[in-house]
Formats: sequence, C-alpha cells, structure tokens
Amino acid sequence: MAKMEVKTSLLDNMIGVGDMVLLEPLNEETFINNLKKRFDHNEIYTYIGSVVISVNPYRPLPIYSPEKVEEYRNRNFYELSPHIFALSDEAYRSLRDQDKDQCILITGESGAGKTEASKLVMSYVAAVCGKGAEVNQVKEQLLQSNPVLEAFGNAKTVRNDNSSRFGKYMDIEFDFKGDPLGGVISNYLLEKSRVVKQPRGERNFHVFYQLLSGASEELLGELKLERDFSKYNYLSLDSAKVNGVDDAANFRTVRNAMQIVGFMDHEAHAVLEVVAAVLKLGNIEFKPESRVNGLDESKIKDKNELKEICELTSIDQSVLERAFSFRTVEAKQEKVSTTLNVAQAYYARDALAKNLYSRLFSWLVNRINESIKAQTKVRKKVMGVLDIYGFEIFEDNSFEQFIINYCNEKLQQIFIELTLKEEQEEYVREDIEWTHIDYFNNAIICDLIENNTNGILAMLDEECLRPGTVTDETFLGKLNQICATHQHFESRMSKCSRFLNDTSLPHSCFRIQHYAGKVLYQVEGFVDKNNDLLYRDLSQAMWKAGHSLIKCLFPEGNPAKINLKRPPTAGSQFKASVATLMKNLQTKNPNYIRCIKPNDKKAACIFTEALVCHQIRYLGLLENVRVRRAGYAFRQAYEPCLERYKMLCKQTWPHWKGPARSGVEVLFNELEIPVEEYSFGRSKIFIRNPRTLFKLEDLRKQRLEDLATLIQKIYRGWKCRTHFLLMKKSQVVIAAWYRRYSQQKRYQQIKSSALVVQSYIRGWKARKILRELKHQKRCQEAATTIAAYWHGTQARRELKRLKEEARRKHAVAVIWAYWLGLKVRREYRKFFRANAGKKIYEFTLQRIVQKYFLEMKTKMPSLSPIDKNWPSRPYLFLDSTHKELKRIFHLWRCKKYREQFTDQKKLIYEEKLEASELFKDRKALYPSSVGQPFQGAYLEINKNPKYKKLKDAIEEKIIIAEVVNKINRANGKSTSRIFLLTNNNLLLADQKSGQIKSEVPLGDVTKVSMSSQNDGFFAVHLKEGSEAASKGDFLFSSDHLIEMATKLYRAALSQTRQKLNIEISDEFLVQFRQDKVCVKFIQGSQKNGSVPMCKRKNNRLLEVAVP
Ligand SMILES: Nc1ncnc2c1ncn2[C@@H]1O[C@H](COP(=O)(O)OP(=O)(O)OP(=O)(O)O)[C@@H](O)[C@H]1O
Ligand SMILES: [Mg+2]
Repeated sequence: MAKMEVKTSLLDNMIGVGDMVLLEPLNEETFINNLKKRFDHNEIYTYIGSVVISVNPYRPLPIYSPEKVEEYRNRNFYELSPHIFALSDEAYRSLRDQDKDQCILITGESGAGKTEASKLVMSYVAAVCGKGAEVNQVKEQLLQSNPVLEAFGNAKTVRNDNSSRFGKYMDIEFDFKGDPLGGVISNYLLEKSRVVKQPRGERNFHVFYQLLSGASEELLGELKLERDFSKYNYLSLDSAKVNGVDDAANFRTVRNAMQIVGFMDHEAHAVLEVVAAVLKLGNIEFKPESRVNGLDESKIKDKNELKEICELTSIDQSVLERAFSFRTVEAKQEKVSTTLNVAQAYYARDALAKNLYSRLFSWLVNRINESIKAQTKVRKKVMGVLDIYGFEIFEDNSFEQFIINYCNEKLQQIFIELTLKEEQEEYVREDIEWTHIDYFNNAIICDLIENNTNGILAMLDEECLRPGTVTDETFLGKLNQICATHQHFESRMSKCSRFLNDTSLPHSCFRIQHYAGKVLYQVEGFVDKNNDLLYRDLSQAMWKAGHSLIKCLFPEGNPAKINLKRPPTAGSQFKASVATLMKNLQTKNPNYIRCIKPNDKKAACIFTEALVCHQIRYLGLLENVRVRRAGYAFRQAYEPCLERYKMLCKQTWPHWKGPARSGVEVLFNELEIPVEEYSFGRSKIFIRNPRTLFKLEDLRKQRLEDLATLIQKIYRGWKCRTHFLLMKKSQVVIAAWYRRYSQQKRYQQIKSSALVVQSYIRGWKARKILRELKHQKRCQEAATTIAAYWHGTQARRELKRLKEEARRKHAVAVIWAYWLGLKVRREYRKFFRANAGKKIYEFTLQRIVQKYFLEMKTKMPSLSPIDKNWPSRPYLFLDSTHKELKRIFHLWRCKKYREQFTDQKKLIYEEKLEASELFKDRKALYPSSVGQPFQGAYLEINKNPKYKKLKDAIEEKIIIAEVVNKINRANGKSTSRIFLLTNNNLLLADQKSGQIKSEVPLGDVTKVSMSSQNDGFFAVHLKEGSEAASKGDFLFSSDHLIEMATKLYRAALSQTRQKLNIEISDEFLVQFRQDKVCVKFIQGSQKNGSVPMCKRKNNRLLEVAVP
C-alpha cells in the first residue's frame, strides 16, 4: 500500500511556540520562557520566521539520525517542528530547484555551537544530495576537511573547548542536478598569537597536543620530539588535558582525514615536521652578552635545540643562528645590520614561530582546496557555509579579539540589512502597507572600526606606516583624539570628559560598545600585530631551508624578489577580506542560524536566563521578531493557507474551484475575522496578530475533530452501505441462482412426469392395439385351428374310409387268395401231397445258405496270416461250417503268403525254423536271436585284401565267416579267431594274418555243448582220435551262437546225414588233451556285457561267469 502522505505542520504538537513570531504577548520574558520551555524539552531549535535559533544543548541529542534526515527530506519548512535540517533542506532545495545560490550564516558567541551547526548542515546536504562513487568521494573529502582544519585552527579557550580560532567560509559547489562537485574554503585571520602564548586556562592549537599524545615512538623520534608536554615552553601546562577529549585518538582521525582529503604521505610528514619545528622554536632561549661597544647582544643558551630544528628543516644552523642575532635593514641599496638584544631575539623567535604556523595553516587550506576543487568547468551552483569565530570578551582582549569582534559586528550588520531588506522587499512585493519598526542598527559601530579616514583600523594603519617612533600609546593617543566623540568609543584619556573618572577603564585601554556588549581592549601589541613584522633575515633563512614546504612558505625570503614595499598590514588585509566576504554573501540567498549559548559552564541542561537574555538582546532577536511581525505576525502563501483552513468554510470545503486567493477571502469573510486583522498580499495572506492565527488553529482543530467524526460517520455509513449493497447484490445473485435451480428442478420433475404419463398412455395405447392385434391373431389362429381340425377330421375320416376300403380290398384279396389257394390246393392236392414238404425245406435251406455266403463275402477279414478277426456265426446250425471256413481261409491266405517267398528267403526261414526247433525254450539266448537275420558271412573275406591268401586257400563255399573268441584251455583267456564254416570243414584262422590255424572236417565234430543261459559260450567236441582232436575240444564265445550252432548242425546233417548232438546244460565236460575238464556256468557280474568270463579254477574246473 502506498504510504499515505500526512500533511503536518509546525503548529502540530508544539512545545511553547515553534515560531517566535507567534509569541503572544511578545516581550523579553515570554521570549526567554519560550526558549527555556523548549530547551527543557530538548527542542533546541526555534524559528523566527525563516531564521533558526539554536540553543547549544552541550550534549548529544538523538535528533540527527539518518531517520531524521529522511523525515525532513523534501518537506516544507513549516511542515515539521523546527530543526536545522529543515533550514538545510530549504536551502538545498531552493539551490537545486530554483537555481538560487545560497549562504548559510551561522552566528553566535564563542561556544554557542556554530561549528557544530555548520557541520550538521554539511552532513545533511551530503546525505540528501546525489549518490555514486565519484559524488561520494567529493562528499567525503568535503566532510573530512573539517577535522584537519579543526586540529590546526581550533583550540581550547575558557569559553569553548573546541573554539575556532580562524574564520572559515566554505563554498560547496553543485552541478545542475544538485550533486556536489567540490568546494572552496576561505580562511580568515588565524589567531596566531596563541602559538607562542595562551591565556590562563587555555591551550595552544589542538595539533600540538594531538601530535605528542598520538604519534608513535618512531614518529616522535623522527620529529625529534618527546611525549612530555612539559618539555615545551609553547605549551601551557595548566589545561593541557581537556575533559572528554582523546588527543591521541583525534590524531589518528586527523591523519586519516588528511589521507582521505588527498595529502600524500610525504606531505603529511612535512606538515608534522613544521609543527615540530614550531614547537621546538619555543625552546630556544637567549642570554645577554655585553659587547665592547656597549651594545646588548644576545646569545643562544643551548644550541642543541637549534641544531635539531636545523636538522628537521634542513636549514644551515649558522644561518639561523645569525638570523636570531642580527637584523638587517635594507633601504635604497644600503644594508644596515644591527645586533638584536635578548628581548628582540625573543620577539624574533616568536614572530618566526607565529608566522611559520599561520603560513602553514594557510598552506593547508590551499592544499585542501586543491583536493576538493571542482574538476569541471561547468556552471556551478554554490552553497556557502560561514562559520566564523564568535563574538568574545576575555579578561585581556587584544588585537585578535578586536578583529574577531569586528567580524561579528559586520555579520550582525549584514543580518540586519538582509533581514530588514528582505522583510521590506516582501512587503513591497506583496503590496502591503507596513509601519517602520525601531531596532538597533550597528552600522555606526562598523563605521567606527572600518571607516577609511577615521576608523580605528585606518588609524592603526596610519600609525604603523608613520615615520618616527610609533608605539601602542601613540596609537591610543590618536584614537583618543579622533574617536573621542563617538558614541561607542570609550577611553579614559579621550577628550570626552565622560570617562575621566571611570576606574574600570585603565589608561592603556580603550573600550568599544559592540552590538553584543562592551569590550575593553588592551592597546598593547596592536601596532606590532598589525604590522605583523618578520625580520627579513629570518624569512631569508627560512627560504634557504632544504625543507621544500618551509621554503615555499616564505617566498619573500628569496633575495631575487626583494620587495622593499611594506606588506599590507594585518588589519587592512582582514578588512579587505571581510569586505569581499560581505559582498559575496550579499549576492546569495541568506539563511540564518543564530546560535545561543545557554550557560557559561559548557554544561548540559543548564539554562542561565541572564546569559541568554544578554545574547537575545545583542543579537536583536526581539527586534527581529518585531520586524518580522511589523504589522503582520504571520504570512503564508494562499495555497497552503487555503489547504490548511478550507475545512472551516462550507464554500471552500472540500474543494475550492477558483483561485486560492479568492478562496482565502471567502474563508476569512465566512469566519468573520475582523478586516484589520489580515491583509491580502499578492501571493500571501498576512495575519496581523498571532491570536488570530491561534483562533484559526483552534477552529481548525475543532473542525478537524468534527470532520474526523463526519469522516468516521460517512465511512461507517459507506462501509455499512457497501456491506449492505454487497449483501443485497449477493442476495439477488443467490435468489436468482436459487430460483433458477428450483425452476430447473421443477421443470425436470414436470418433464419426467410428462414422460411417465406419456409412456403410460403410449403403453396403454400400445397394449390396446396389441390386444386387438392379438385378438385378431387369435381369431385367425382359431379359425386356422378349427379349419385344421376340421380338415384333419375330414382327412382322418377320409383316411379311415380309405383304410377301411383298403383293408376291405386286402381282406377281399387275402380272402380271394386263400379262397384261390384253397381252391388250387383242393384242385392240386392230389399232385403235391408226397414231396412238397421236403422240397420247401430244401428250398428254404438253400436260400439261407445262399444268403450266408453272400453276407460272408462282404465280411471277409484281411489277407494277413496273423489277423485273428473272423465274422460271427449267423445261424447255429452253420457252426461247424463257419469254423471250417475259417480254417480253410487261414490256410489259403498262408499259402498265398508263402507263395510270395523267394528260394533264398525260404532258406533263411528254414534255418530259422531249424533254430527254433533246436533252441526254443531250451536256451535263454534264443529269443533275442529271432529278430536277427542269419547273415553267415559277417567277415567279408572276399573284399578284404588282408584275407586274400585265406580266401585262396579255401575253395568251397563259405557258410559262416565270423570272428569268435577262442578260449585258451590253459588259463581261460580268449584270443580272436576267424571262424569259417564250409560244407565240409570247420576252419580257424588268425584274425590278423588270415593264416589257417586249425581245420576240422565236419565228420570229426561230435557234439556242440552250451549253457541254457543267455551267453554265447559254446564248446565244439571232436571225435576222439581224430587229427583235429589232438589238442582237445574247442571252447568259443560268439555273439551269433544260435546262428552258428544252427548252421553247423545243418552243415553236419547234410555232410554226415546224421543229426549233430547239441547238448544244452549248465555243466558239461570237455576234453583238453588228456584231461576232462568240467565247464561250469555260474551267474556272474555284468562287467563285460554278454561276454562270459572264463576262469580256470583247477585242472578239473573251468568256471564261466555269465551275465
Ligand atoms: N547541536 C549540538 N549538539 C550537541 N552538542 C553541541 C551542539 N552544538 C554545540 N555543541 C557542543 O558545544 C561545543 C561548542 O560548540 P562549537 O565549537 O560549535 O561552538 P562555536 O560556536 O563554533 O564556538 P567558537 O566561536 O568558539 O568556535 C561543541 O564542542 C559541542 O560539545
Ligand atoms: Mg567554532
């Protein structure tokens, strides 16, 4: 939410009155009381129109925070409670926005707070003006110039612990946007006498103490200084320490500030060297020395200090020593050297110290100016801030006080002039009649001092320039002569007899009635100080220094530029510079800050009325208020006035359409304010009496309360109405929605009801039609049914009739047939009676058999001999026929099957049949051989070239050629042998070589033995005594035992026509040479498959393990 702009006024929450112009009644007492009341409430600022009165609070107040800066930024002058920021803002904005150069004139006596005020103005302007790196650097340099100048130019006095001992006017330069560009500082006459001597309770310039307290041991060593203040004659000891001031910390601040302002390190060091040199100069002491010619001469007591100074400043020691002993006067190419006595030597020393220091100060200002100088040549807007030493009255007032007070006098004058002028001009501008107000014009005092012919300064100059003996007394005498009649000049010795008996006025003094009070000046030293003489020898000695800074401080010491003309006196220089300053100020728009010192104790919360009263008097503040109120206490532009009070009149509230002025006229008429109480200017309304304003304010306050109530009332009404309207609107919306909803619901109900009704009616109608249709259909169906029944009945009747008819016809035919049969039988009975039965029986039997065979023909089984199918028997009496037929058919189809066999196949089957007869149910091996065809020639001797020889040896047909295992009779181990069977012989040959090992004619084979088990082990028994039997019977094992045994049996049968004995037993005897060995078969392991394992157990037993 945007921040609401609250229009406030100076008049809001006022303590006392914020603007003295509004004070009622106006007199000194009320004025002071108002100030005191505000001071007690920490309101240290009060206005007199646009002038700000500032009462020194002597303690930090929380009213300068950044928040306060923001509060006063861009606000109208009278909008907030009085503040120095309001004035600064006003000045800055009119500079920026109206292009008017400004000056801030800060006046008040010493310790009233001028320097602080000037810093506050600068810091406010720095805070509100533009930002950015470059701008910030400029601001920082401008602000940091203060600590440097204060260190060198301020000192503790009895009136102020940080009293400015020089006048300072600083022009801050801005560009068209209001961003600071740079600045120029002018300084006015430093109180240099302080360097060598300080009044009781006061100090030398801060920098000396800061240097000694804050410098490091190293720096002190370089500067040949000691930390102890008491070592230096120029430093007063009684108030070397100031309460609440940390000199060491301030030294660091100053060095830091110097760095920020732009001093190079070597420059800062050179400055400190000069400061050290000044301090050490004070320690040079002289002693008298009588000369032969009777003239007094002085001599430096201890040259050590001089030596160190010379080392510091790189000056030839003898040159400086000589400069302290002689004075050379040059006139018209003549040089006269005179010796200096002790007093003159001290004078010369102090003059050198003062000059060195004050020139250093001026150099510092110039150096700072160089740094803060605006870098561009564009047109600049200027804000000048003047902070000059305040009016002061000491116990002993000398030339310096005279100068300072003169300056304040001039400032007071410019204040009077400008304020009055501005006031006058305003009335003229605004076309308002006004009556003159009496006030004290200090022009007469200024004239007493600065008048060119008989002013005090002019006379002093005259005295200084006059040839002959010139002393302060001669100067006083002159004053007594010329100023005697002046109202503001007082002197015991003046021609005017008024003061002859005034004991408060010593003879060596004169008194001036300044605007701020009477000040008694000691005339002693006036001439000297005005002359401000430095012996040429000294300035030349300084110029000769190797120290570049010191050299440049004394340009007149250059022998090439000897100027025999006297330099302008201090007084005339100051007068000229003040005149320039005044001229400068007059070209700018002035803003006044009048500082008031509330007490003499530099203490917070003490308000010494007498002291304040005195300041108010001499500052002419009451007159200021009176002038301001000359006829009209308050004025305000029409627009803000109308804006503030428009609520007091119906025509102007809340808006006035016409010009503001006529609005104010209407307003004032309506309020019946007496015509003499106000006056209309061109742009402002002028109110004569503050009471009228207060009445207006009261009315406004009352009206505001009423208005607040009214606004509250209207607001509440508006709020309720808005709420009501909202509710109403909402209600209408809700009602509309509800109606719509209920109508929608009702419509949907009606719609669904209509649908129900509709559907019922449609259903009813449909059912009616359906009923009719069904009725029609049923009628039709009934008719059809009836017709069908009818037709059925008719058909059945007809059928019945036809059946009846047919039955009757059949019966007739049967009867006829029977009748005919009977007739025929009766007729042929005589022919058939003997064999008719037999014939019928045979015929019937024949028919049945015929039928049986015909049916059998179709039911014949397949021609496979193993097909067991045979159709069932149809008639019991054909049972034997049927079986016979089956047998015949089977034989027939076996014959048919056999007829397909070739001779070879027949042979194989014969062999198979033979094997079956021999081994079936006797040897367990047999069944596995049935499926194996008997191949005979397993070993193809014909084809294998290895056996060519074997083949050639055998001429007969080979029946079996197969490899068998021949069991060794001795150990039961086996060796492979080719087993060959021919029609006549049994041959055994070596498997590898094919060489014939044994040949046994089949006639020599007597028996073949084998077990009943599933092994291929067999023995071939040979005829005893035959050739082949010499080694004994053979024992073989073969995979084709059945085939071999069968073929051997058949071959032997065809050879010998005798059946070979085949013995199947698990224990049989074999003849091995002479022994009969029993071969016994036992059930053994299956290790070698079907190959039996033979083991010779002993001579009589060979065990064959069969699987
Ligand atoms: N606005 C202020 N708030 C707090 N303390 C202040 C304020 N103004 C002045 N003082 C105090 O008063 C002392 C004196 O003020 P300042 O140095 O400004 O006086 P001055 O008018 O410049 O005196 P002089 O003419 O001797 O230079 C300051 O050192 C400070 O302690
Ligand atoms: Mg000051």
